[in-house]
Amino acid sequence: MTCHFLVLCELVILVCLISQGLQNKLIYSTQNTIKEINLRSGNVSVLLSNLRSNIYSLDYDYKTEYIYFPRHNLNVISRFRYPAGKPYIVENVITAAEPIALVIDPLDEYVFWTELYTGKICKCNFNGLNKACILQDDKLYAITLDYRSRWLYYTTFGTTRKIRRARLNGSDKQTVINSVEVTGLGIDTNGWRLYWMVHNIGELRSSTLNGTNIIKVLNTNKTQTSIGIYVHNSNIYCTNGLQLLKVTAMPVKAAYVLHTDTATTHGVLLYDDIRCIFLTLLKQIVVPIMSYVHECFPFDFFIIHIGKDNQSCLTFTHLLKQEEYNCCSNLYLTPDLEIQDKLAQMITDSKYYIIWISSENDYSNSWLDWCIDIVRHTSASRHGYFLPYIFRLNNSKVPADLKQYEAYELSSDFPWKMQEILDYLKRGPTKGEKTKS
Ligand SMILES: *[C@@H]1O[C@H](CO)[C@@H](O)[C@H](O)[C@H]1NC(C)=O
Ligand SMILES: *[C@@H]1O[C@H](CO)[C@@H](O)[C@H](O)[C@H]1NC(C)=O
Ligand SMILES: *[C@@H]1O[C@H](CO)[C@@H](O)[C@H](O)[C@H]1NC(C)=O
Ligand SMILES: *[C@@H]1O[C@H](CO)[C@@H](O)[C@H](O)[C@H]1NC(C)=O
Ligand SMILES: *[C@@H]1O[C@H](CO)[C@@H](O)[C@H](O)[C@H]1NC(C)=O
Ligand SMILES: *[C@@H]1O[C@H](CO)[C@@H](O)[C@H](O)[C@H]1NC(C)=O
Repeated sequence: MTCHFLVLCELVILVCLISQGLQNKLIYSTQNTIKEINLRSGNVSVLLSNLRSNIYSLDYDYKTEYIYFPRHNLNVISRFRYPAGKPYIVENVITAAEPIALVIDPLDEYVFWTELYTGKICKCNFNGLNKACILQDDKLYAITLDYRSRWLYYTTFGTTRKIRRARLNGSDKQTVINSVEVTGLGIDTNGWRLYWMVHNIGELRSSTLNGTNIIKVLNTNKTQTSIGIYVHNSNIYCTNGLQLLKVTAMPVKAAYVLHTDTATTHGVLLYDDIRCIFLTLLKQIVVPIMSYVHECFPFDFFIIHIGKDNQSCLTFTHLLKQEEYNCCSNLYLTPDLEIQDKLAQMITDSKYYIIWISSENDYSNSWLDWCIDIVRHTSASRHGYFLPYIFRLNNSKVPADLKQYEAYELSSDFPWKMQEILDYLKRGPTKGEKTKS
């Protein structure tokens, strides 16, 4: 990846932010308080105060739109709806023994947390039901989830100081990194690398997901002050005493101070409302289908391909990927009913999808019916309107049920018109916009 791409990404993001009024927010905690920074304006505001506890960790579920956080000193996992009208209202989800960190599994809809002193990792579903403790180890601190390969990564913080991983049912415990004091863990879903903050020396490090190829990413030059990190694509957000840092790891290693607070920062979370989405990489089909599908979520670009000629759609996907967009497509999925249901749900919950109609006027496959169902379902179940992007190639017919939506014409030389396509994606139909119907 070159600088050129980086600049392009930043530009695309900027254009999105400006043209669509979208906002990226950094949510962070200080003692008893949760605040947000609008990364566009730099405005800082208090979301919740008087929480009567230290909060060392935050995570977000894009589907139900809740921020979850452990209230260590109150022995409870809490949440609040976000974004939402003020005042924000805290709900307690479940009791827990001095919980220190948590992570959301949006696929199976569980929240997993670590308990510092009991050394347990427990879980419950989003409403606090079905609580179960899946494993016990030394004292524990950080936790994160590799949702693709379904591993929980966690750190021990007692007589042993390690990064370990286990399956989501607690089986198959393995040590990934030895002899390291870690308070913050995260996974870069572009490069599929693990990042961690070494608390005692303030160093951000990274390795592959199995612990090989360890590199030092950044020295914060502060000891004992860095707690939480949050990895979003290849950007790492770190709390660092009073400061909040953004570290870009790929392609350039650089660190910026985003904000200096008056109180010590602990947990951090990036809330991403960018509609031009840089999704996790479209991988070769070696991963189980459901985790593969999961990569579409919550980042929303899903390409529904209709027609026999899959080559042009594959090219399109490939080009989007080169442009730092990422996407999933039904091309890689068998039209199995169960998967379709899950996909339908995800697309309904997503912000964006693309319908790609190939050059052949032959789309009598089961995906078409399915796709039309989705469009109907989505428009009916949403407040406002939710539209697909429709691309058609070589004058292919638009199925009758989709005719009410604007379709974008592409000639067969579309690969050379990427800019045009990107421009269209920027000004194309968006959620909340009313359209001809
Ligand atoms: C946020 O910043 C804008 C300027 O970018 C300012 O006009 C606005 O009043 C600020 N809002 C708050 C709540 O501070
Ligand atoms: C735990 O999960 C792993 C991986 O998903 C699976 O192979 C194993 O059979 C499960 N063990 C139990 C006891 O359910
Ligand atoms: C660890 O992961 C790297 C890259 O993901 C891979 O090349 C290597 O073979 C793996 N090593 C082991 C021991 O699994
Ligand atoms: C840490 O110190 C080194 C050497 O003085 C400096 O180059 C680097 O920028 C510092 N890091 C931060 C995050 O301030
Ligand atoms: C694309 O179509 C070809 C020919 O019909 C087929 O062999 C191939 O498996 C398809 N690829 C994907 C990813 O669906
Ligand atoms: C589009 O039509 C042209 C000319 O009819 C043809 O050469 C080309 O292969 C078609 N493109 C695709 C992707 O089918």
